[in-house]
Amino acid sequence: MTTVNPSGSLTVTDNRTGKTYDIPVENGAFKTMDFRQIKLSDDDFGLLGYDPGFLNTASCKSAITYIDGDRGILRYRGYPIEQLAQHSTFLETAYLLIKGELPDKERLAVWSYNIHHHTMTHANIVKFMDGFRYDAHPMGIMVGTVGALSTFYPDAKNIMNEDSRKLQVRRLIGKIPTLAAMSFRHSMGFPYVLPDNDLSYPGNFLSMMFKMTEHNYRPNPVLERALDVLFILHADHEQNCSTNAVRAVGSSGVDPYTAVAAGCAALYGPKHGGANEAVIRMLMEIGSIDKVPEFIKSVKAGSGRLMGFGHRVYKNYDPRAKIIKKIAFEVFEETGRSPLLDIALELERIALEDDYFIARKLYPNVDFYSGLIYKAMGFPLDMFPVLFAIGRIPGWLSQWTEHVQDSDQKIARPRQLYLGEEVRDWMPIESRPRNRMDEKKLDICRL
Ligand code: ACO
Repeated sequence: MTTVNPSGSLTVTDNRTGKTYDIPVENGAFKTMDFRQIKLSDDDFGLLGYDPGFLNTASCKSAITYIDGDRGILRYRGYPIEQLAQHSTFLETAYLLIKGELPDKERLAVWSYNIHHHTMTHANIVKFMDGFRYDAHPMGIMVGTVGALSTFYPDAKNIMNEDSRKLQVRRLIGKIPTLAAMSFRHSMGFPYVLPDNDLSYPGNFLSMMFKMTEHNYRPNPVLERALDVLFILHADHEQNCSTNAVRAVGSSGVDPYTAVAAGCAALYGPKHGGANEAVIRMLMEIGSIDKVPEFIKSVKAGSGRLMGFGHRVYKNYDPRAKIIKKIAFEVFEETGRSPLLDIALELERIALEDDYFIARKLYPNVDFYSGLIYKAMGFPLDMFPVLFAIGRIPGWLSQWTEHVQDSDQKIARPRQLYLGEEVRDWMPIESRPRNRMDEKKLDICRL
């Protein structure tokens, strides 16, 4: 039995022993370590918290991103995402996330210069890139090449040195679009395009992606701005799966390239950064508006998920999805409307009126419309999670920097509830009691 004490503590009574404990509460949380004193006997290990997927466990204190999932609020360093998407550039937002404040003109100019002057990669990266199969998924290439950057910059190991950290941050934000574009051009068999520092951050990325024989590539300004806003919307999202991966791997003291490679790996999965790709595949599979009701029925029957819907934190419309939906219409003005947009709109309309989705508070998330925009801009589906990774880089780096400097942090090492066999003696193969195995174990052993 637990009662909340207004003085900032919990009084916890262990009904197994009748003993009572005072557990301090700070910032709306208690430390699960304070529960370790609750024991049945002296040799009892003590009470553990059990929370698969961290549904109700804060792994850190953070001052970077605030989300109120029930009210659909997202802020970076206190600034509402809507205002940043309307007024800021991605590089300015990256500065905000990493340094904590919006830059003045001079600081922004220096910051932009520094990022742009780290866009080139070592020539050996080209050889490394060429080692991948012609049809390698660009996100797999990103996981490998971002990790490989650590071998080019051994100085990055000095993670407690502030100057070194700042340098690696600039290098990573500068080089990620170059690696991303190279991964695409490798898969297409196109020659790589060198960075053009006269262009904006998204403009340079579009140039490295799509420049062919023209002397001067000039990006379409509507698409350039749309991409910049998409990067802003993806720049951070507090303790999501990939950020947790960056922090957990970074907690071992490894360099930021390796920690960020772990973030890329986490982002590759269809439940996370792969969702926008999965949305397009789902829309193509549905094929036409008249098939939408049938598809919704199959989702409700459990045959799959409505990709781009639902979120661990948002139990309301994802504020990023609202902004992206607006951008989608602006982009389609330039590129022509995709029939997939109409299927998406119909899916959204039906799902938002359907009891199944209402009861579970499932709303469109950031990925529901982003894939449609990327596709209209000419990005192949395989590149979608890579685009997400470019946007998320400043978030990962600001979270990693915060983690490294946080004296509360230790190497990430969760506990487990061991529910396996008690100790037993090894026996020779001929005397192992196969006939005593239950069906389930026999099944596993068949593998
Ligand atoms: N379609 C249909 N049903 C869903 C969906 C969905 N997209 N998402 C959740 N549900 C249902 C579940 O089946 C479950 O139903 P039940 O209670 O009857 O079993 C209930 O809603 C809760 O689902 P959980 O999986 O427990 O929710 P969780 O918070 O763990 O998962 C997640 C969140 C992974 C995002 C989930 O909603 C999902 O798989 N969505 C589709 C993939 C997607 O769009 N991912 C992108 C997320 S945003 C991002 O990473 C940038």
